[in-house]
Amino acid sequence: MRKKIAAGNWKMNNTKAEAEALAKAISAVEIPEDTEVILGVPFVFLSAVKEITAGSKVQVAAQNCHQEESGAYTGEISAPMLTSIDIDYVILGHSERREYFGEDNALLAAKVDAALKAGLKVIFCCGEPLNIREEETHVSYVKKQLQEGLFHLSEAALDDIIIAYEPIWAIGTGVTASKEQAQDMHKEIRDMIAANYGATAAGKMHILYGGSVKPGNATELFGQEDVDGGLVGGASLKAADFTAIIQA
Ligand code: PGA
Repeated sequence: MRKKIAAGNWKMNNTKAEAEALAKAISAVEIPEDTEVILGVPFVFLSAVKEITAGSKVQVAAQNCHQEESGAYTGEISAPMLTSIDIDYVILGHSERREYFGEDNALLAAKVDAALKAGLKVIFCCGEPLNIREEETHVSYVKKQLQEGLFHLSEAALDDIIIAYEPIWAIGTGVTASKEQAQDMHKEIRDMIAANYGATAAGKMHILYGGSVKPGNATELFGQEDVDGGLVGGASLKAADFTAIIQA
């Protein structure tokens, strides 16, 4: 049985005081037995949030890492740096990284390798822009993202991967994919994993939905057979909203 996962992505939001208050509030939430909670935190607050969440079930994710282990890359953060402060996860391939920072599938494949080598687990994002959805080529678009970014991994390595399907037209827009659209795409993704790795690997993979998840739509989205939880942006910044999503 796959567990449910509620992952927050704070993006470039919160001051130190706000980050600490939010981490404290979420650490105090009664988390259901079969549920995992992950907070995606800006680099500068990772240590503070890790300390606050210690002893709770809350896991901590960085929102990016560099593909090299170390070196002359001013301003960058490596995967071994993150594991050296006991960070659990890294979010890779978010559409904002792909769009604003030019991260392509080949670079993301290298980042995935670097993260896994350092001992991080990866939340790997995929998802299509609006024009691709309108052209109805979204399945092949996402397949290419996974093929080139992820499917070079061994089946064993997939145990440390969570996939987040985030249609770009639903991110931060208030427009959520319908539960049918989410389920259809998640089923397609699971079938892609089955085609590459077999049914066991496909059955184990956690696939999260992201894009305007809110307390009001979380229950129906997470109730879909192939939706194993959510990657939540805006609503993860409010303790009450994210708590409601965890409980959904
Ligand atoms: P949103 O963001 O929930 O604000 O739409 C989701 C994401 O980008 O991960």
